[in-house]
Amino acid sequence: MSVVALVPAAGRGERLGADLPKALVPVAGAPLLVHAVRGLLDSGCVDHVVVAAPPLHVEQTESLLSGLSPVTVVAGGADRTSSVRITLDHVVASDTVVLVHDAARAFTPASVIKRVVAAVQSGKPAVIPVLAVTDTIKQVDASGVVTATIDRSSLRAVQTPQGFALDVLRRAHASAGDTATDDATLVERLGIPVHTVEGHPHALKITTPFDLAIAESHLPTP
Ligand code: CTP
Ligand code: MG
Repeated sequence: MSVVALVPAAGRGERLGADLPKALVPVAGAPLLVHAVRGLLDSGCVDHVVVAAPPLHVEQTESLLSGLSPVTVVAGGADRTSSVRITLDHVVASDTVVLVHDAARAFTPASVIKRVVAAVQSGKPAVIPVLAVTDTIKQVDASGVVTATIDRSSLRAVQTPQGFALDVLRRAHASAGDTATDDATLVERLGIPVHTVEGHPHALKITTPFDLAIAESHLPTP
């Protein structure tokens, strides 16, 4: 039962505002994407990696990842969902477990990757790492006035890698044009249960310059 990790890394990183696509921005001595791919391979439970690279930077991405193997690099799509869908075409039949992992979560500890893989291997069709929400969460109307306070005890913040049985992820992505901010949402739309395992604060998504500064100063490379 082999495990493939699909890594959407084709985003522009507009909120980060660097002059390079976010995945190629260096932090702690290497581009975010290199940390992310190395973390997956070093976890010991990922057999190969397929990366969706920024379309104008495919060759550069290949060369940045040339020291890591086995890794396939393809040009990503216009949004995250299409980037994942493109990498899915490069999965091979022996890959029965598929992880989808944001390049932007470059410092995810191996323990999280292992928990997700183990849960899928134990028979769960879809597994996501989550954290309890610590802020009070409110709903607001269009003018910013509070309309409700949501009971946070049942809320979870969702991370990656998200793990799936191959056939489940294929079915979830079968209708082209169906988009979501993560892959589990597409699985939920099929009515298939999505299970949770504990995530980790170090698996934060690097989105803003503040997140990058936190990563640079505080996060151990996985
Ligand atoms: N992603 C992708 N293809 C896209 C857009 C996003 O592969 N067309 C990837 C990003 O590279 C990232 C992950 O999806 O690893 C999560 O997206 P996000 O954090 O939003 O990254 P960006 O889209 O690059 O950032 P921004 O939204 O600020 O532009
Ligand atoms: Mg984005």
